[in-house]
Amino acid sequence: MAGKIPQGFIDELLSRVDIVDVIDGRVPLKKAGKEYKACCPFHEERTPSFTVSPDKQFYHCFGCGVHGTAIGFLMEYEHMDFREAVENLAVRVGLELRAETSGPEVKQKSLDLLTIVDEVDQYYRYQLRKHPNADAAIRYLKARGVSGEIAADYGLGYAPDGWHNLLHSLGTESKRRQLLSVAGLLVKKEDGSFYDRFRNRIMFPIRDSRGRVVGFGGRVLGDDEPKYLNSPETPLFHKGAELYGLFKARGAIKEQQLAVVVEGYMDVVSLAQFGIHNTVATLGTATTRAHLERLFRYCPEVIFCFDGDRAGRDAAWRALETTLAVLRDGRQVGFLFLPDGQDPDSLVRAEGAPGFNERLRGSTPLPDYLLRSLRDQVDLTRLDGRARLIELATPLINQIPPGALRELLLDRLAELAQIQRTSLSMLAGGQPAVGAKSRRKTLKPSQPPMRKSLVRVALALLLQHPRLARIAGEVEALRPLNSVPGIDLLAEVVHTVTEHPGLSTAALLERFRGTEHAVHLEKLSIWDHMIPDEHVETEFRATLAKLKARLRDQQTRVLLDKSRSEPLNDQEKAQLRELLARGQT
Ligand code: CTP
Ligand code: MN
Repeated sequence: MAGKIPQGFIDELLSRVDIVDVIDGRVPLKKAGKEYKACCPFHEERTPSFTVSPDKQFYHCFGCGVHGTAIGFLMEYEHMDFREAVENLAVRVGLELRAETSGPEVKQKSLDLLTIVDEVDQYYRYQLRKHPNADAAIRYLKARGVSGEIAADYGLGYAPDGWHNLLHSLGTESKRRQLLSVAGLLVKKEDGSFYDRFRNRIMFPIRDSRGRVVGFGGRVLGDDEPKYLNSPETPLFHKGAELYGLFKARGAIKEQQLAVVVEGYMDVVSLAQFGIHNTVATLGTATTRAHLERLFRYCPEVIFCFDGDRAGRDAAWRALETTLAVLRDGRQVGFLFLPDGQDPDSLVRAEGAPGFNERLRGSTPLPDYLLRSLRDQVDLTRLDGRARLIELATPLINQIPPGALRELLLDRLAELAQIQRTSLSMLAGGQPAVGAKSRRKTLKPSQPPMRKSLVRVALALLLQHPRLARIAGEVEALRPLNSVPGIDLLAEVVHTVTEHPGLSTAALLERFRGTEHAVHLEKLSIWDHMIPDEHVETEFRATLAKLKARLRDQQTRVLLDKSRSEPLNDQEKAQLRELLARGQT
């Protein structure tokens, strides 16, 4: 799809996309008054200054100054380019960006991705109950001890054997097949035909934090490979952000102030069947910071539960490395290593909930796990062994945000390595590490306040409340005010909104993307001019009135100046009389 994306398409796109949804899927947001807040994903912070405005369809961090539209967010956060971001959002809301589109006409799909994935979810569930060959699946689940009740509770389904079941049931028209393929549920072949991705598998629907199905994990009924197949990354489904079971587990996690992270879908389901509900699973991927931030929103403590084998220990160490940077004071992380050959599913079946809970209570706190693992790698009886310990430990400890935990760990390290704490501090002396994404941004929290010129105020009000354009009709008449910087831009913005009524702040800004005014307009659209919402209209009128007065001043002065060197013609005289009559000199 080459060629410029028509502006009308962007307008339409931004009128359908909700930036709150787009961001919440990646950085969980909390409602705060009219807006939503989170800790900024672009810099390290403890109190949320990242704000998303559903009205403006715009995000802004008061801490580091980042801001932008839904398109801009995907470009920053997912490192997409402009076109990728637009395409990603388009798919999400069921808009089709066609190569040949040159006019503003935009093709609407009756369905969007979420809807079709929901249909697929219902389809798989129905197949588990009704498909002629579903008894093999039911037998399998029964043999594994999964109760009918818990299967229904977790919405388990069945993808029947064969290449074209889903295709023929739900992919009845080209538009639907296209969506199903974007959702990763059909696979497109080179010849353009499609086939079912999931065949003869038990289906585990994966829900986002609002409970909407966004992807699936599918398990074979026997010992075939691959044992699990998951939905690929799609515009809806991000493995690095979603956690299996979180939607159902949230309540229990909040209540118990503890989240348990296990490796498998079956682990989550079995633990729930035994009454342990505060459990989530990663989706066959390593734990990410996004996972942890999401969990720490609900509770202060997370316990990772890993198999006792080599792979489990490796996974645990990787989880530890990811965790350090989010371990600010007040957060706790523990590690539970299960006996080799066991997983939470088998363990809870063998020992029951009390046994599993007992093990959770005996989990290893992260600081102990960290120091113990490193100590085991060195010879503490040797001087150079102790130096090695310091060398291994400090880069890790320095990733913990500054605070008591970091200091205490350094104390313990000093003890273990038998070194003066002050010497260690000199050696360690690192700066708090921040995540890869935030490294790109330098903090600029306190920018000099913007001067409150009339044009700035008018522009800011207009950008933040585009509906004001309808009372800004006469701005064109202000254009002769060429001594006032920005007057042309103001007129241009008024013109844009008048031509395209209904543009949001975000859509308006997208219209100026890439122009010389983009940066200035963005700044103004987040500028806090301290004018309360209910006074916005009055203030806007007053500002325009002042500009008009200024224009009259200017015109008066020009005419008076002229009259000193040459006689005015009749028209000029009349104009001057009128200007002076208004009492403006
Ligand atoms: N996984 C995967 N692809 C595989 C194997 C595993 O994506 N080929 C992911 C799945 O999310 C799975 C998790 O890794 O749930 C843990 O794998 P494993 O412990 O092998 O699976 P269990 O959930 O224990 O599955 P089961 O008990 O059914 O064997
Ligand atoms: Mn298992």
